[in-house]
Amino acid sequence: MNVPVKKSVAVTYCVYDSPELMSLEMARRTAADMAQAAASRGVARLALSGGNTPRRSLQLLASEDHPFRDQMPWDKLELYFVDERNVPPDDKESNYRMVKESLLDHVPLAPERVFRMEGELPAQEAAARYESTLRNHLRLEGAELPAFDMVTLGMGPDGHTASLFPHTQALHEWMGLCVPNHVPQKDTWRITLTAPVINRGRDVVFLIAGADKSEPLREILLGAYDPEKYPSQLIRPASGQLTLLLDRAAAAELPPIADGDAGRLEVSR
Ligand code: 6PG
Repeated sequence: MNVPVKKSVAVTYCVYDSPELMSLEMARRTAADMAQAAASRGVARLALSGGNTPRRSLQLLASEDHPFRDQMPWDKLELYFVDERNVPPDDKESNYRMVKESLLDHVPLAPERVFRMEGELPAQEAAARYESTLRNHLRLEGAELPAFDMVTLGMGPDGHTASLFPHTQALHEWMGLCVPNHVPQKDTWRITLTAPVINRGRDVVFLIAGADKSEPLREILLGAYDPEKYPSQLIRPASGQLTLLLDRAAAAELPPIADGDAGRLEVSR
């Protein structure tokens, strides 16, 4: 049973003068993580979040004008999704479509190495099928969790991450790997990895930009522990490390750090 355990997490936050510089660092870190995983384990497993913020970093990964594309082990990469909207893959809201347009259409990653959440199906069926895919492809046994080499996360102004929205059922899912989640705030269903799966990631990285994220981010890192209100507080990687790549606007209410330096917080809960 993967019940939430109280533990401290070493949070490292890096602040960049622009979303472009933040995205460059995300692309650099992704390529480095994947190259290291492929070299040491023969396979590199990347779980991507959707939304808008990751778009640029994915374009940079694909760009022939930057070194990241050539560093990526495309023939050893397996690409997974952190969450998906309950829409077809060609819908403008689809996370898969965003990743396809930003990355997949431009890189030599074989389609069979892309593990898409089938948002076109009823959310319950899509989640169950993705859970089966994870269990079968990764040969998971019993309560074993998948260990992605990198999990990328965003954060909404309401403090949600993945499709773990405030006051929704998925916040309490500690057994499943992938679950449907009804989000009354958006009157929609989502499909999402659960917090225990995200927390099993070897490198869990938030990518957050924009002034509308500064207040929730302060509350999440420095405020009281209230994951019902701020689900991003559920993200406490088993590795004990959590990294946030931020632009200046999102970091406006965090302790200031010198240019090029990194802030560090010990968040114990
Ligand atoms: C999604 C994402 C979600 C996203 C946040 C931030 O499906 O939308 O997985 O968790 O990361 O909503 O979105 P932006 O990057 O667009 O601000």
